Amino acid sequence: MEQNRGNFGSRLASILVAAGSAVGLGNIWRFPYELGRNGGSAFLIIYIMCVVFFGVPLMISEFAVGRHAQSNTARAFGMMGGSRYWRWVGFLGVLTGSLILCYYAVAAGWTVEYLFLAGVDGFAGKTPEQFTTDFNSFVSDPVQPIVCMIVFMLLTLFVILAGVEKGIERGSKLMMPMLFIFIVLLAVGSSMLPNGEQGLEFLFSPDLSKVTRSTLLSAMGQAFYSLSLSMGCLATYASYFRREDRLVSNAMNVAWIDLLVAVLASVIIFPAAFSVGVEPGVGPSLVFITLPNVFQQVFAGSPLLCYAFSLMFYLLLVLAALTSAMGLLEVPTIFMKEEFHIRRRWSAIGVTVFAIVVGMACSLSMGLWSGFKIAGMNLFDTFDFFTAKIMLPVGGFFAALYVGWFCDEPTLRGEVTNEGTTAVRFYPIYRFLIRYIAPLAILAIFLNQFGLI
Ligand code: PFF
Repeated sequence: MEQNRGNFGSRLASILVAAGSAVGLGNIWRFPYELGRNGGSAFLIIYIMCVVFFGVPLMISEFAVGRHAQSNTARAFGMMGGSRYWRWVGFLGVLTGSLILCYYAVAAGWTVEYLFLAGVDGFAGKTPEQFTTDFNSFVSDPVQPIVCMIVFMLLTLFVILAGVEKGIERGSKLMMPMLFIFIVLLAVGSSMLPNGEQGLEFLFSPDLSKVTRSTLLSAMGQAFYSLSLSMGCLATYASYFRREDRLVSNAMNVAWIDLLVAVLASVIIFPAAFSVGVEPGVGPSLVFITLPNVFQQVFAGSPLLCYAFSLMFYLLLVLAALTSAMGLLEVPTIFMKEEFHIRRRWSAIGVTVFAIVVGMACSLSMGLWSGFKIAGMNLFDTFDFFTAKIMLPVGGFFAALYVGWFCDEPTLRGEVTNEGTTAVRFYPIYRFLIRYIAPLAILAIFLNQFGLI
């Protein structure tokens, strides 16, 4: 196996890089609208339980598999003992990550356009109806969203080409603190708005009567997506961790950072939305239609503040999408490099071209090609459905089975506890969660999605 694969230089770097992959559009775009749709704080509580009971255990497992193998994800599964057919679990992760990248790039392209619009003060003076028609005509345009997606992918490629330490590590160390500062500033500003406390109440006073089976399932799905589980990313990044890095504490740190950003994103969005009387459950358009509109209304009296708020918010969104897409691009890049001996540069360029071509089709499926449907869904939605609702749970289920039941247990214990020097008391709890709770919980989401339970 190749010796000089690159390593993240410090413990903080390992955490920031993994947190960079986790914190993304899933936190700032998807989490608030899922929360809005699913009754607010009740969703938040269930989400936290999902993170604790199966998110963190799965993350520790992926870290252990990746660091132990010191190789790409497809080779990593199976290197901890058991049949070599477990490699297919890793291979599925690489495939899932590559496919997610294709449509993630499209949505990330929208954030680039909105950052541009915010920069040229393009939201000023628009009516709520205009925000809706503008967004719809933008996403269905045959050229504009594709150009934005290409710009975004080239940015991501640029970081990946710079390598593990100089690209991924340096990029994350720069972007993650920026993201954190922006999000805190925006959250403080938003919660001070008139009537903002109604939004905070919606977020933080749990109404457990709102909890239904679908709340539970949405929260589980969100946990997978947001923590970047089962996509090969965490195992790939862990293969660059150093031997002395502590996997359990890294996973816990990544999980709370991810959770904190999701909560802060909601603290930005809901007080602002309540402040102008917008319905919190509007769904995916929350960040692209509702929010720019909310900014306009909230700051009607001070155009400069409105400009600064919008610019900061969309910059935040682009940065978050970028650190996540870096992870998604690295997975197939290192896979092709190690399995097919293609140079890193060409491997990264090849995957980027693939993502752009498939991403173009996904983007066109919202306009020109919207007539082409698979089981009633356009290509973009088909990709989302297939990856997030089928490939992720299947991959997560088998990853939990492998680590919980089939790999070599002493090797796993050695990896998780750094040869018995850390997290020793936590290990039995982790083992219980990964053997029983994680596979059962994932099976429940999966079966429910197909109406089987
Ligand atoms: N976790 C990211 C988000 O919440 O947006 C999405 C993601 C990024 C998934 C990177 C997987 C990955 F490898």
